[in-house]
Order: sequence, then C-alpha cells, then structure tokens
Amino acid sequence: TRRNETDTGAGVCPFHGAGAPSMAPNGCPVSPRAAAFDPFDRPYQLDPAEALRWSREQEPVFYSPRLGYWVVSRYDDIKAIFRDNLTFSPSIALEKITPASDEALAVLERYDYGMNRTLVNEDEPAHMARRRELLDAFTPEALEAHAPMVRRLVREKLDAIIDRGRADLVAEMFWEVPLTVALHFLGVPEEDMEQLRRFSVAHTLNTWGRPSPEQQVEVAEGVGKFWQYSGEVLRKMQARPEGHGWMYDMIEKNRHKPDIVTDNYLHSMMMAIIVAAHETTALATANAFRQLLSRPAVWADLCDNPALIPAAAEECLRHSGSVVAWRRIATREVEVGGVTIPEGGRILMVTASGNHDPAHFENPDELDIYRDNAVDHLTFGYGSHQCMGKNLGRMEMRIFLEEFTRRLPHLELEEQEFTFLPNTSFRGPEALWVRWDPVQNPERRDPAVRSAQRDFPVGAPSRQDIAREMVVAKVQTAAKGVLQIALEDPHGRRVPAWSPGSHVDLIVGDYVRKYSLCGEVDDPYWLQIAVLREEAGRGGSAWIHEHLKPGMPLRLRGPKNHFRLDESAGRYVLIAGGIGITPIIAMADRLKRLGKSYELHYAGRSRASMAFVERLERDHGETLRLYRKDRGERLDLAALLAEPSENTLLYACGPERLLAALEAGTHHWPEGSLHVEHFTAEGALLDPEHEHAFEVELTDSELVVEVAADRTLLQALRAAGVDVPSDCEEGLCGSCQVEVVEGEIDHRDKVLTAAERAGQDRLMSCCSRAKGKRLKLAL
Ligand code: FES
Repeated sequence: TRRNETDTGAGVCPFHGAGAPSMAPNGCPVSPRAAAFDPFDRPYQLDPAEALRWSREQEPVFYSPRLGYWVVSRYDDIKAIFRDNLTFSPSIALEKITPASDEALAVLERYDYGMNRTLVNEDEPAHMARRRELLDAFTPEALEAHAPMVRRLVREKLDAIIDRGRADLVAEMFWEVPLTVALHFLGVPEEDMEQLRRFSVAHTLNTWGRPSPEQQVEVAEGVGKFWQYSGEVLRKMQARPEGHGWMYDMIEKNRHKPDIVTDNYLHSMMMAIIVAAHETTALATANAFRQLLSRPAVWADLCDNPALIPAAAEECLRHSGSVVAWRRIATREVEVGGVTIPEGGRILMVTASGNHDPAHFENPDELDIYRDNAVDHLTFGYGSHQCMGKNLGRMEMRIFLEEFTRRLPHLELEEQEFTFLPNTSFRGPEALWVRWDPVQNPERRDPAVRSAQRDFPVGAPSRQDIAREMVVAKVQTAAKGVLQIALEDPHGRRVPAWSPGSHVDLIVGDYVRKYSLCGEVDDPYWLQIAVLREEAGRGGSAWIHEHLKPGMPLRLRGPKNHFRLDESAGRYVLIAGGIGITPIIAMADRLKRLGKSYELHYAGRSRASMAFVERLERDHGETLRLYRKDRGERLDLAALLAEPSENTLLYACGPERLLAALEAGTHHWPEGSLHVEHFTAEGALLDPEHEHAFEVELTDSELVVEVAADRTLLQALRAAGVDVPSDCEEGLCGSCQVEVVEGEIDHRDKVLTAAERAGQDRLMSCCSRAKGKRLKLAL
C-alpha cells in the first residue's frame, strides 16, 4: 500500500515492508475502506460525519494512504489528542495538506511569503506565553461591548432584503457581517471586502484543499497577495498605534515584549486571524440556518421561544459545525484507540465525526435543540488551543438567529443543491437560498417588531433557558392532596421520548420544580406527573394545585434522567415513600416487561393519601407490599436490607429521612447497589458568608482560575471561557462533573457515593469546592 506520491506528494506508507500485522488477505494492514478513504471525495465533502460512520463503528483509527494521515473518528480519542499537545504537536495545523508544486512555490517566493507560527500551530512553552498575553480581549465583559455593532450590521443587511421575498443569505450577509465584525474586533480598516473574501478562499484552498497543478499557481497568487496585503495593513496600523482592537493589543505587546510577540508572529497572525475570525462563523451560520430551516417544526419552536436560540446555535455547531477536522503530529510513538501511531505520524482528527459519536451524544444524528450536552462538541477544539473567538462566533450566530426568527418567522428554505469549497477542514454551503412572502412580514403589521430585540449573555448557553412549551391536557385527583397532571404538545406533536426514572423541570410563574414522569413510557402524546400539595413547601405545589387547569400553557425542561435504571441486574428492590412512588412506577413497569425479578415496597400515611395504589395493585399486585401508617404497618428497613446481595439493585425515592436511612442501612452492601433520587439540595447552595476563596489550575487549558467566596466553581470556570456542561446546578444530577488531579475536595453534591467521594478524583463543579487553597482539574 504505497501512497500515491504524485497525488499528495507526502511520503511512503508506514506499513510498507514494516512487517506490521496483517489485516487484509493480501497482507496489507490497511483495510480496503481505509485504503479507499479520500477526504476530497464527494461523501466526505458533503457530510464528513456520515462518510466516517463506518470508521466510528469498526475502525476508529486508521491510516489513509491517499492522504498520508492517520484518521481519528471517535469522540474520546479526539479529545485525548487535543488534551495532550506535547505528544500531539499542533505544529502542522496550518501545513499545506497538498504540497505545493514548484511553480506555486516560485510564486509564493516572489511575494516573500513567510507565514510561520500563529496561535493555532505553535508548541509550548511559546504558545501559552503568547496566548496569555492576548486573552484580555476575550473576557465576557470585553466581548459584550461588540454586541451592539453585530446587531446593527445584521439589522442593516436584513433591512436591505426584507421586502424582496427571496435571497441567497450567504451572498447577502453570512460572510460579510462576520468579516466586518472580525475587522472591527481586530481594529483593521474595512477596505475592499470582496478582495479579502477572495484572499480567504485562496488561503483555505492553499492550506486545506487539493488544487490542481494549474489552480495551485492561481491560489499561490492569491495567498501571496494576501500576505503582502496583511503586511501593508500591519505597517499602517503600526504607524498610528493609538487605534483600538486586538491587533493593536498585539502591536503593543510586540513593542514591549518583542521576544514573545515577534515581528513574524504579528504578520502571520494578521493574515491567519482575518480568515479564522470570519470564515468559521460565516460557515457555521450558514450551516445552522440550513439545518434549522430544513426542520420547520424546530424553526417554529425557535420563533415561539427565542430563549432557545443559544441552545439551538450550540446544537447546530455540534450537528453541523463549520470546522470538521483538525491536525496534529505525533512527537513520539503513541497508541490511540488501540492503534500504534509512529513518531512523526500525521493525524487528521475528524471532529465532525466525534460530534456524531453515539458513545458521547445520545441519538447523535438527530438535531435536538433541547440536548443537554451539546456544549461538549469538538467544533471549537478542546484544551489549551481551543478557539479563542468561540464566544464572539456564538454571539454572531445568536444575533443572526434572533433577528431572523423575530422578523422573518415565515422564512423557508428553497429546494437547492448545496456546494462546498473542496477542502478537508472547513464546511458550509457556498450559497443558501431562502424565500418568504413579504406580505406576511410581521413588522408590516407592527413596526415595533423590527427593534424588539432579545439579548443573550456571552458564553455557553444557559441550561436554564432550554425549555419546551407545553399545555395542560388533563388534571385529576390521584389521592388526597395529590394531583395527576397530563401535559401535551401545543401543536399536537408527539412528546419527547423518556425512560423510567426520568423527570421534568416544570416552570410555572416564578417556580421551577422537578417532577418525575409517572405515565406510560410509550405514551406518544402525554407526559404525566403527580404533584403533592406541600403546605410546608416553598409555594410551588400550592400554586399548581390552585391554578393549573386544562388548556393552560406552561414550560418545562427535560425529560432528563438522572435516576437511570440499570437493566443488567438479576433482581431489584424498589422502595417508595409517599409521592416518591412517581419515578418507581415506570421502573416497575419496565422490570415486569423485561421479566426481571423485583419487589415493590410502598409506604404512606393511609391508602387515601397514596397515589396510584389501584394501578399498582392491578399491574404489580404480586410483587407489591403496601405499608399504611394509619394501620400500623411499617416498612422494616433493617430486615429488608439485612442480607446484602451481589446481584440485587435497590432503587428508592421518597422523603430525605427515608433515603438517609437507606444510605445508612446499605453500608454492608456492594458499592453501587443503592440508587436514590434526591429532589432537594440541602447543603449544596452557596453561602458566601461561610465560604473561602480558592484557585484552580486547569491542566488541559493551562489556565489558573480564581474562585471567589461568592461564586461557584462552575461560574468561575465559565467566566474564564471554559465550557462545562451543567443541568440542575444544585448538586443533584451529575452533569457538571470534573476530574480532579490534585487537592482536597469539599463535596457538597448528592450524586457521588461515599466511595467515589473518598477517591478524591472528581467533583460536581456547580456546588463542591476546595477544602484548601488550590485544586488541580483535568480541564
Ligand atoms: Fe447538576 Fe452540578 S449541574 S450536579
């Protein structure tokens, strides 16, 4: 399997004559699919994630003889490579993937082309020293200042087309607005935008494309001119250093710290950053509009509930990001996903494929704007080289979406064939044709619509905003003081799928409360909850009892499952106290359906106060034990838990004292036998009076972050631009877990078991803190 040197000019197959283990009948260790893989073929150009499905499933790391690269397609392997930038050097990130012809080299030489190190392709320790010098412009506060300008630019472009009824959004605004924003941000004068766009295309083809020998010369001309142009702009800016913008910051650093921010670095950054700062956002925005408009129901949800826009933009970045692959080179022989990559092995990480890895994202091919871990996507990269401009890109995408959903909710995607600039790493349609009926424009009826903007905070989307619109379908009494409520989609669509143990966060007025789903798992049209009126509660349940009526709209988050049923055990003990029966019902149904051995213990004050007794007697009569206090029946936990069993799992929900008794009573059971669901977060909420500040060192991003006494670790990480998923933010769900490398942890969550806590190797960043002054985190 000798690589086609005339095509790629890139070396020799590493297996050739190396005596590597055979994988194919002819003795070649490169599988036929790996041998056939070519990222310039149509399938990869159209949809890189789909083109590598076979690889994710069967051969997650393979050598591509046609490319001369090791291709990595699974989420965890890609993240591990991003994490370790000493073993996996970024130095080839901007190398020409198709080596230049002699003619092209001669052209570049004529222009004195000398693109060298920039932020994306330099090694440590130079990289972090420079990155730290250049971070100030990216704090949320600094970025916030750009929002009005982005808004104005988008609005002007939209004004220009709003009465037209048809447009190619790429040509009209998707590249020009991000380019203008990028130039503003950098402080570069806006001149000849069309020319800059052509230069950017040439740079992309030169670095990540496979131009033909004739195209190579043309591309080299464009790149050479771009290099000269960047140099001229830089000199002009240096001549009047009083200007504002990120390039001026760099010029300033160059003046004061010329050994850190060198002259060549300034020039290389100038050219690279003009491209990086706009092309990625332009393509990501075009992808997002394409994906959302091709799903009219999702688009309608966004129009009805614009709070979903940040989550939708993030999910589009995951599902169809603009950066689909990135490169590293191995500095030593190393194993990735069970495959040995030799020292000097070039690696193509297909981030678009990692973003569709079912091991990390549930139903990865679905565009689900309610997804709770979309922020984990790899489109911005990860670790110390993660995209610095990610929050500026997010801001632009959100403003585009917000303006369009408000002003043109009736926008439609036209039937069209999409084309892409042929290259390995950047993806987005070259044109995006949409149409609408201007007569229906809402601002024709109400001019206030034009300016009724909604702003979003800078940074990763807030979980709190990811809410679905629902409507109350039915309210009935399930027991004394317990209402059973059925919820349905306001448009009659199917409700989202859920699994036993799932709950929803109900948002009613100012209240957000968690309620387990207690209906039938396969009911396509209703989500059902049961609400106990708690007189001593915070008022949410009383409000629901007094005000909830059929037909009433309300919002909820979820369904989500932090109380998942592990179906692998042989035997189950289900324990419910009072209203804690709600998540247990679907578990019992499921276990019955699976034919598992289970027993169901249900304790309450009296039969009249215990919800669902009849239904349980009907469906689970044989296994059900009721304990009614008014009849002197007691659930004897000591007896129930006396005999630990290897093959038995316990699932329990109910009052805190029942759960505490279960935790105390199962010490002699195997670790992980007991699963409980807490609905209150005592002790997890921050009390600044009694906290101390500490700092965290982040090993992957090489940052040190201060956590003040009045901030959670999660808040401090986000303010530093580090994206960590979260959900409950009360220590109940486990989504914000972070690995701890060093330091003593003050655990405040209800998720980790005693043994997990004792391990001192992970914490819930939304509530837990450092016992001492410092923690080291693998982030
Ligand atoms: Fe749920 Fe932290 S976000 S435990």
